[in-house]
Amino acid sequence: NITPVILCGGSGTRMWPLSRGGFPKQYLALYGDQTLVQQTALRLQGLEQTGEPIFITNQEQRFLVAEQMRSVSIEPSAVILEPVGRNTAPAVAAAALVAVKNDPDAMILVLPSDHVIQNDKTFCDLVARAAGVAAAGKLVTFGIAPTSPNTGYGYIRRGAALAELDGGYTVEAFVEKPDLAKAEGFLAAGGYYWNSGMFLFKASVYLEELGLIRPDILKQVTFSVEHAETDKDFLRLDHESFSACPEDSIDYAVMEHTRHAVVVEAAGLGWSDIGSWSALAEVAQADANGNNLLGDVMADRVTNSYIRAENRMIAAIGVDNLVIVETADAILVATKEHAQDVKKIVQRLSESG
Ligand code: GDD
Ligand code: MG
Repeated sequence: NITPVILCGGSGTRMWPLSRGGFPKQYLALYGDQTLVQQTALRLQGLEQTGEPIFITNQEQRFLVAEQMRSVSIEPSAVILEPVGRNTAPAVAAAALVAVKNDPDAMILVLPSDHVIQNDKTFCDLVARAAGVAAAGKLVTFGIAPTSPNTGYGYIRRGAALAELDGGYTVEAFVEKPDLAKAEGFLAAGGYYWNSGMFLFKASVYLEELGLIRPDILKQVTFSVEHAETDKDFLRLDHESFSACPEDSIDYAVMEHTRHAVVVEAAGLGWSDIGSWSALAEVAQADANGNNLLGDVMADRVTNSYIRAENRMIAAIGVDNLVIVETADAILVATKEHAQDVKKIVQRLSESG
């Protein structure tokens, strides 16, 4: 039996002006009619022997999760609330502890909520195929064939092929967010995958590894789960102990160190972590002129552009390769090459208050 764990407490800033501090990208309908977190949960309906998901998020985002799940008729098995963000290693630990309480043998499928996956069936088939290896005690990662030396990802060097899993390999090295020179070296060397950020393992195996590698994190999270408060549909982690937990991501804290990781090649998912508007434009279905025109947009001799109107009409004439995103109080205009620099704008905005 698989319990999905949906991580949705991050505070993405790269999809500004649509995403904001209190409204990160996982709660936005960036690709299709549903929001990313809704798509993440709905995608699992094609997976057999899978329970309702556990959500873990920041307490400020609790109503976003609750309302967005209600509107697609998904009843979470738990919504765990963190008093403060401590990154993904503690978040996964809290969810794992809740899962083993219900079932000591629970297998958890850890899913970020800020991705697009275009082929749900391919994804479900892949998870089902990997379940046997996870049940045998491995920490399964899902590897994406890299197409650029992107430094925002984890890199996985594959080792020997696994006899028991087609497209599965031992992990020889896991390098989270390398610098550009290293990432370029990995691409040139071959035999590397991007870490997709999804994981499949027995909750007990993760907790055991965390206890060996980062006993300080496990200790704080265990206390905060044991002293959690049930508040209607929410499980509130103990404020003091969780706040005192060191901050780290699952990638740095566990995956770089464990000797029990395996990687399964995740081909054909149509995966994108949409780290920028131009990355979204790459996966979105463009029209004959290479444009994505969303909302009330009038375009004349416009090519290769992503133009999104939320409130007002946008008219564009004779432009190429632009991202234009209009919201009630802010408009972004950028070339696709520079669209990822919105994070610098967000930085400046937060500095100026
Ligand atoms: N509950 C909770 N609490 N969720 C969190 C927290 C937290 O403190 N921090 C992040 N998340 C959620 C985010 O909302 C996102 O869905 C997911 O956890 C991953 O966090 P990111 O902060 O987006 O990680 P990343 O993109 O920098 O890196 C990860 O994903 C890459 C692929 O997109 C790593 O796993 C990389 O190795 C991987 O390549
Ligand atoms: Mg991410």
